[in-house]
Amino acid sequence: MRYSEDFIEKVRAANNIEDIISGYVKLQRKGSSYMGLCPFHNEKTPSFSVHPGRQTYHCFGCGASGDVFNFIMEYDRMSFQEAIVSLANRAGIAIPENDVTPEQKKAASEKTRLLNIQKDAAMFYYYKLHSQEGKVAMKYLTDRGISVETIKHFGLGYTGKSGSGLYGYLKKKGHSDRDLKESGLFTFNEAKNTMQEKFWNRVMFPIMDLNRKVIGFGGRVFGDAKPKYLNSPETKLFDKSRNLYGLYLARSSRAKSMIICEGYMDVISLHQAGFTNAVASLGTALTSQQAALLHRYTKDIYLMYDSDTAGIKAALRAVPLLRSAGLNTKIVDLKPFKDPDEFIKARGREALEERIKKAENGFMFEIRILYESYDMTDPQASSDFYHEAARKLMTFSDEIERNSYVASVSRMYNIAPEVLKRQLGKLAMQGVRAEETPQMTDKPYKKKENKTGDRAEKILLSWICQKPETIDMVREYVGSEDFSEGLNRIMADSLFKMYEEGKFNPVSVLNYFEESSEKSDAAAIIEGSLLPEKEEDFNKAIKEVMLSVKTASLERKIENLPLSDMAAFQRVMAEKKNLEEMKKNI
Ligand code: GTP
Ligand code: MN
Repeated sequence: MRYSEDFIEKVRAANNIEDIISGYVKLQRKGSSYMGLCPFHNEKTPSFSVHPGRQTYHCFGCGASGDVFNFIMEYDRMSFQEAIVSLANRAGIAIPENDVTPEQKKAASEKTRLLNIQKDAAMFYYYKLHSQEGKVAMKYLTDRGISVETIKHFGLGYTGKSGSGLYGYLKKKGHSDRDLKESGLFTFNEAKNTMQEKFWNRVMFPIMDLNRKVIGFGGRVFGDAKPKYLNSPETKLFDKSRNLYGLYLARSSRAKSMIICEGYMDVISLHQAGFTNAVASLGTALTSQQAALLHRYTKDIYLMYDSDTAGIKAALRAVPLLRSAGLNTKIVDLKPFKDPDEFIKARGREALEERIKKAENGFMFEIRILYESYDMTDPQASSDFYHEAARKLMTFSDEIERNSYVASVSRMYNIAPEVLKRQLGKLAMQGVRAEETPQMTDKPYKKKENKTGDRAEKILLSWICQKPETIDMVREYVGSEDFSEGLNRIMADSLFKMYEEGKFNPVSVLNYFEESSEKSDAAAIIEGSLLPEKEEDFNKAIKEVMLSVKTASLERKIENLPLSDMAAFQRVMAEKKNLEEMKKNI
């Protein structure tokens, strides 16, 4: 839900920044401001300042800065919307509900009822684990090295041997059959009109969302029976692609990075060993939504996937996915152990820390696996490897970054950097860009006629950001109304506005976006297009790009022209004429 400006300002006014921050940081008055130790980086002398007058904070050490909302977002690792709600609650301001439709209200109350079912089920399982009947499950967990505190911390449970008690328990709690059918905990048999429990004789791992609310379960058998794990199906509460096991805990661990592993048991073992920043995707391959979610909390990921071929395959899929979300990934080698759980049990915490320190850069991991798939004694195969490596290097649009990878690859695989660079130059001439290298994408397919225009707009935005001095010239020909609505238009608008206000800083264009997925889409645009290296190539290319943007914009205008509006028609025709002039000048 989006809140009105008025409401946001009301919340801001009710939350004095110095009051809020002093709840987290010891502040001392220094003249008109306050100073303290920065909570966002390690320091011994205070360089964190809070300005009551401006209602902002700034750290001279690490550069963190913002208003009271930014502080809460950073410190409590919340989204903007979550920060608003949290500060409104703190100040006792009612969250406006008047925009909520009756359907939304109904859905909300259904959601509450479904959440209550999951919560009650988790309680039931938890008590079962601690009952006489649960002894066998308790033994299983403790035999696997899980402590009593950890069991409590993760709310682990047991279904009971036969899978009969839960239905009666939930009915007694007042839940309706209609809601129970939606809960994912039962299989409904229409013919017999019975509800059968889905989980029985399993250890239960409750899956919680960011607000620590149970939304589903994973259940494990004790022995070798199949399936080893059974998970709740997707329900109105449980969307596997948008949740990560353990994230509600990991997000408030103060670590700078996050660890992604494969299994529930891995997360639990890692947390128990002090790696409280570990999460797992829910028995499925990592999704781009999960990557975007992680991007809210960190920029650095350590992958601890299983060390078998399936794990390597999963890692090869995850690395580019995480990279597109703006995350740096390193791969932790767990060999000779299968997974983090087994590694910790065999070698302990310090050994794993050592492995983390030695983790391999995600890109170099991709290249290494590629290398291992070629027979380098065969000249054709080895030349294929270098070509493929060059193609992969093209995914870096930032020149400095690309060059440093070129250096690493050439050092590691004995190829002259000049040769690799020449190959890259060739690919650049052919117009191979990161987005063209085959990659999984779950973005909806764009309408074809928009594609060239959209592409040109993104290139233009990217070049303006990477080469800010060009904006002067761009503004002569192109206005923000020439960009198509949505992300491109918003970016163009804010870039031009910043320029007019004399504070042109392309990166701060990201501040205009609230949602981290929008932020990362915008960041992808900024970094997305390679700049032609030679000045004259650039000048020619940018003009062509502007021309494409203009042409697409004009086509849109003509398409939407109201038939009766003569004046508008004449304006568009005049623009068309200008465009032809512009074409001649290029
Ligand atoms: P343990 O044997 O308990 O240590 O499990 P693990 O986490 O090491 O198991 P594994 O590497 O086999 O699986 C990793 C994750 O994949 C699990 O945590 C589950 O989420 C999921 N998974 C494993 N087996 C199954 C299965 O049979 N069915 C389903 N749906 N998911 C599974
Ligand atoms: Mn395991």
